[in-house]
Amino acid sequence: METISDPRFKIIDHPLVQHKLSILRDKSTGTKQFRELVEELAVLEGYEAMRDFPLEDVEIETPLEKTTCKRIAGKKVAIIPILRAGLGMVDGVLTLVPSARVGHVGMYRDPKTHEPHQYYCKFPPDIDKRTCLVVDPMLATGGSLTAAIHFLREANVKDIRCLTLVSAPEGVRAVLNYDPKVRLYTCALDRELNSDAYILPGLGDAGDRIYGTK
Ligand code: PRP
Ligand code: URA
Repeated sequence: METISDPRFKIIDHPLVQHKLSILRDKSTGTKQFRELVEELAVLEGYEAMRDFPLEDVEIETPLEKTTCKRIAGKKVAIIPILRAGLGMVDGVLTLVPSARVGHVGMYRDPKTHEPHQYYCKFPPDIDKRTCLVVDPMLATGGSLTAAIHFLREANVKDIRCLTLVSAPEGVRAVLNYDPKVRLYTCALDRELNSDAYILPGLGDAGDRIYGTK
């Protein structure tokens, strides 16, 4: 199994994540449980992706006395799902950052060329002042994610963190080579892509499994 060593790339190897991922991959897992697991994994991955958010001191008063505590320092967050499958991760990240704004990038892969086709893009107006968490369960060739990063850089976003559940080495390399500052989190680095650009061993088509469209 390939390893990719880059400080911008992190595999979330927590036992809870790996356990849930094994159920997600199983072809006998039904739509309802699949959807629940995608959301739960997004919570765990989002927690890790926000680990280095800066803190500031705040004075508060407990029922007993005044004290100084830490709060996240003015970090504004936007969650950017890549439609459709990325939508399955939004509520999970929103449980961690309920005030986050949500922007959408609509993209589908051409089944023959595997090239991404954009059909929708809408970001919050102050996107350039926000840390953007781009969510999509699958990173295969990297075409969809690099296109989403391109739109965000064009909108002057400085801090982009991508959260995927299952990634192929080809896609990880494509994303890291495309953007020198991007950060990429995944729950698993799988073996390879097949001739249809599906991830092996993978979990199949994430969008179809979330929405029961196959
Ligand atoms: C899947 C997946 C990613 C993309 C990954 O979406 O959710 O967006 O493919 O492949 P890539 O890295 O080769 O670009 P898909 O195009 O199947 O659309 P869907 O989410 O609407 O099912
Ligand atoms: N998109 C998916 O949903 N699954 C893959 O394996 C590759 C792309």
